[in-house]
Amino acid sequence: MSTDQVRKAYLDFFQSKGHAVIPGAPLIPENDPTVLFTTAGMHPLVPYLMGEKHPAGKLLADVQRCIRTQDIDEVGDASHLTMFEMLGNWSLGDYFKQGAIEMSFEFITKVLGIPLEKFGVTCFAGDKDAPKDMESAKIWMSLDVPEERIGFLPKAKNWWGPAGKTGPCGPDTEMFYWIGDSKLPPKGSNPANDEANWLEIWNDVFMQYNKKDDGTFEPLKQQNVDTGMGLERVVAVLQGVKSVYDTDRMKPIVDKVRLSSSLKQTEEKHVRIVSDHLKAATFIIADGVKPSNVDQGYVLRKLIRRAVRSMRMLGNEEGLFTASIARAVIEQYEHAYPSIKAKENDICDALQAEEQQFGKTLQEGLKRFQKTVDSLSGKVIDGLTAFHLYDTYGFPLELTKEMATELGLTIDEKGFENAFAGHQELSRAGAEKKFAGGLADHSAETTKLHTATHLLNAALRKVLGDHVQQKGSNITAERLRFDFNHADKMTPEQIAEVERLVNEVIKQDLPIAYHLTTVDGAKAEGAIGVFDDRYGQEVKVYQVGDSSTGSGQVAFSKEICGGPHVARTGMLGSFKIQKEESSSAGVRRIKAVVSGGSAEIDVAKEAS
Ligand code: ALA
Repeated sequence: MSTDQVRKAYLDFFQSKGHAVIPGAPLIPENDPTVLFTTAGMHPLVPYLMGEKHPAGKLLADVQRCIRTQDIDEVGDASHLTMFEMLGNWSLGDYFKQGAIEMSFEFITKVLGIPLEKFGVTCFAGDKDAPKDMESAKIWMSLDVPEERIGFLPKAKNWWGPAGKTGPCGPDTEMFYWIGDSKLPPKGSNPANDEANWLEIWNDVFMQYNKKDDGTFEPLKQQNVDTGMGLERVVAVLQGVKSVYDTDRMKPIVDKVRLSSSLKQTEEKHVRIVSDHLKAATFIIADGVKPSNVDQGYVLRKLIRRAVRSMRMLGNEEGLFTASIARAVIEQYEHAYPSIKAKENDICDALQAEEQQFGKTLQEGLKRFQKTVDSLSGKVIDGLTAFHLYDTYGFPLELTKEMATELGLTIDEKGFENAFAGHQELSRAGAEKKFAGGLADHSAETTKLHTATHLLNAALRKVLGDHVQQKGSNITAERLRFDFNHADKMTPEQIAEVERLVNEVIKQDLPIAYHLTTVDGAKAEGAIGVFDDRYGQEVKVYQVGDSSTGSGQVAFSKEICGGPHVARTGMLGSFKIQKEESSSAGVRRIKAVVSGGSAEIDVAKEAS
């Protein structure tokens, strides 16, 4: 089966089992301060796993592009990619273990035709937080999976989530395909006791716990299922190829990279790094990021620069190859992701600019690195040198690390961090911390700021005009950031008026509620929102202030949004704009805070 066929077969299958197919979300999470990228299909669904109602219902399926920055170092092996596509299905308080496992099994064996003899699973071994998952094991056995192919593993392996510090999580059961040298697995082999010979292809997570700040687990309101199948891995299995890079959609990209090399014998690892990194970069730029020294922009920069360096290792000295690889990526994926075609020029321009900029200092930096290595007495490169390579030659730490590793050397990373901290530009450390941080922070503070963002959006439209539209939104526990189109810098009077309007609405303590409707229905009733393909047909419209009471009062704000929001505007306390600045041509950026509101909040509910 081709990649396209598997994508389609998956969605068709789950649709036939009553699931609503929803569009995947962008790679950059909206309104989630704690992670830089969407790392799993469940990520945009966290509020619904916690009990919010999803407009499309309780059973969902989608294809989600994901970025896992922690996998970047593994790139080059047979199965890891920086960006991959996750096929997922969810039950929000509907079916649980029985339903999930039965459907997974049916899809794997009947639709994909994977032979049972090459199939194995693992289940959760049990600990003080949750019992051994005999229930899942028994369901597998009832489906004729032999007992010897079922392994049990502890939390480190067979428990998924929370993706950050807190949030929904639970035991999982993982599905594997035999990739050992022998045709069939030997007696007694399973993915728990013979890990290297089994490839994980799918994970069914039984999300029934919420991990709390203090590290304890409490039962969630509802028992959820969250699954994720690695599309590229499954396709590699079905196409009988040795790696994800040899699959039908990846191979043309890899071939293009190989053609761009001047060497007869290309080192596979570098070919894969170039292919993988530029593919991820293409999608990241399409979702609105530019190379920079902060957050997602820094990761993007790192990916492009590592690709450029690997291309040099492949003997291509002149450079300017990134745009042509991006075009190869677009060719393979534009039918599934039209946004990358629409952004083709932006993508090629951004890649080329970064490539040119880095190309200028790369040779100098490599010389500097070589000099350090030549005069090295031990096996550790000091942190100051690594920082100098970063600061002066634009070498991301990871790049210096990789070059060091290739020579059997290490880097004094603490020393690097110290040199870095002494420097004013704290961006990279900030970015790294976010990887370590939690996922989908739906704390009281971020919920309040989320509601404040809606009030701000509505107030801007009243003060500046109806042309104002959201161009971006980002919320941390401390502040909101809102980008919108408007040609001119706002005057102090306009800023004061926007603040006054928002604070007035807060003082009125207006109720907030949502109702379900269609995209067209939302447009007809005058709701604002980003009407793009990220929403399914069914949407939630959050409304501030009630227009149905007959009091003649008109809603202050009506906006398409997934939520959550606070139940009453009074919970926000007071609102203050801290900064108004240019974000890019024709786009302004506001940073604002709320303070003095309720410590505990109620969440806005469906309108009755
Ligand atoms: N969220 C689960 C995973 O990423 C399905 O493996």
